[in-house]
Amino acid sequence: MTIVLETEHLTIRHWEEEDAPALLEIYQDPEVRLYLGNLAQSVEEQIERLRAIKARYREGGDRFGSWAIVDKTTGELVGAVMLKPLPGHDEIEVGWHLGRSAWGKGYATEAGRACIQYGFNQLGLTRIVAVVNPLNTRSIAVTQRLGMRPEGTVTAYEKELAFFVLEP
Ligand SMILES: CC(C)(COP(=O)(O)OP(=O)(O)OC[C@H]1O[C@@H](n2cnc3c(N)ncnc32)[C@H](O)[C@@H]1OP(=O)(O)O)[C@@H](O)C(=O)NCCC(=O)NCCS
Repeated sequence: MTIVLETEHLTIRHWEEEDAPALLEIYQDPEVRLYLGNLAQSVEEQIERLRAIKARYREGGDRFGSWAIVDKTTGELVGAVMLKPLPGHDEIEVGWHLGRSAWGKGYATEAGRACIQYGFNQLGLTRIVAVVNPLNTRSIAVTQRLGMRPEGTVTAYEKELAFFVLEP
C-alpha cells in the first residue's frame, strides 16, 4: 500500500482493487451521487475504473491523481479525493467525494487541504481550482473553509458550474 498523504485523521492512498465494493456502495447512495456524473454500475465496472485511474496517472508520473481516503481510526474507506487537470481547461482542480457516514466530520476539508498543500509545496503549482454544481451547498462550504475565492461560473463536464480559485 503506497501512502500518498497523511493527515491528522486520514490516510490518502492509491486505490486497490479490493476498494471497489466499498467505493461502489458509497456511490450508490442517492445523496452522495446527487451532483456527480456518470458512475460505475457494478463491482466489475468499478474495478475497471480504478485500474484506468491508476494507469492514467502513472503515465504522468503520479504527480496528479484520484486517491482513496481511509479513516485512520477504523481503517475504513470513507471516500475519494482528487488533484488533477480539469478537462478542457488549463487548470488543476481539487475535488472530494465522501460516503454519507463520513459527512460532518471535516474530512473533505482535511483531505482537500492536504491535496492543496501537496500541490503548492511539492508540485510547485501556482493555482488550484474547484468546480461545483451551484446547488451543492456542502461542497461550496468546503471550498470556503479552504479559503477558495469564488470566480463566477465555468463550463466543465458539460455543465455550467460554480468556479473557485486558490493561489498560494
Ligand atoms: C461535498 C462533501 C464532501 C462535503 O462533506 P461535508 O462533510 O459537508 O464537509 P467536511 O468533510 O468538510 O465537513 C464539514 C462539516 O463537518 C463539521 N466539522 C467537524 N469537525 C470539523 C473540522 N475539524 N473541520 C471542519 N469541519 C468540521 C463542520 O462543522 C461541518 O458540519 P456541517 O456542515 O454538517 O454542520 C459531501 O457532501 C459529499 O461527499 N457529497 C457527495 C459528493 C459530492 O457532491 N462531492 C463534491 C463534488 S463538487
